[in-house]
Amino acid sequence: MAATAMNAGPSGASLGSEGEIQMTDVSDGAGFVTRRGSFRAAHVAEQNIEQQAFILDQMAGRPAIRTLKAWALDQLAPAAGETAVDVGSGTGEDVVAFAASGARAIGVEPSPGLRAEAVRRAAGADVEYVDGHAEALPFADASVDVLRCERVLQHIDDPTPVVKEMARVLRPGGRIALIDTDWATAIVHPADPGVLQRMVDYFLHETANPYSGRRLRGLLADAGLEITGETAATMIEAQDGARQGFVAMMHLTALQAGVITEAEAETFARTLAEAADRGAFHLSLTMYAVSAVKP
Ligand SMILES: C[S@@+](CC[C@H](N)C(=O)[O-])C[C@H]1O[C@@H](n2cnc3c(N)ncnc32)[C@H](O)[C@@H]1O
Repeated sequence: MAATAMNAGPSGASLGSEGEIQMTDVSDGAGFVTRRGSFRAAHVAEQNIEQQAFILDQMAGRPAIRTLKAWALDQLAPAAGETAVDVGSGTGEDVVAFAASGARAIGVEPSPGLRAEAVRRAAGADVEYVDGHAEALPFADASVDVLRCERVLQHIDDPTPVVKEMARVLRPGGRIALIDTDWATAIVHPADPGVLQRMVDYFLHETANPYSGRRLRGLLADAGLEITGETAATMIEAQDGARQGFVAMMHLTALQAGVITEAEAETFARTLAEAADRGAFHLSLTMYAVSAVKP
């Protein structure tokens, strides 16, 4: 069977609705700017799929993400005939990886544009992409053998009922893996500490669930699941990252929001670019993964 996209799930689940942020094309010539909510389900109508796919591809190419994706697949070990679900499947690569094991592989994704992109990329793989939200998964109780959810919970205001919803659809003995960033682990150097702090505070405040990484374990335990493994991986930005990506996002977004001045933004960008020219730029961010089983 070829890849399919279906409107199989309930939509209109209760989602955070404040804020109007969407992908905003404020290019610095090399990068992109993403503002709060760029991946929030409530903003699917405003999203720029090309830019989202670009960001997801950039992230998916980083060794830390590759490590965590491989770790989760190893923990979950989907088998032929099992039903394996990726919640918030984006461009769909992890659904294709599930299908390679012979499992029935399903991606749940609220963005029609990302579902269409996932179908295009799956090109002949035996996968399904369905409309749905993590808050109300389109599956019966105890009907899923394997479930993964990567870098989605950070975009959800209240992840507690969402992880309970994941536990609902898992069958007894079913496996789950959650992966997410903890934005408090972001380190940028060199930068004026006061300016950096204002930018970081703003960014943390504007992210729906910025400390998601450290919460994964407790969310699974509180949903009645037994933890089977945990790991972490730190993304370290290359020197050319000083002029694009996260750095561009940080200072341009903070400038737009008015939490730093134009002069501070210019100094921030110049300081990091000059540091990179002598090989002294540092930006790192840690992501966590936790696996569990339903008793
Ligand atoms: C940062 S992307 C990660 C995509 C994919 N998991 C990956 O690893 O590349 C976040 C994804 O979660 C989806 N998403 C956002 N809110 C969601 C929700 N409430 N339920 C399900 N998916 C959601 C977005 O549309 C997007 O595809």
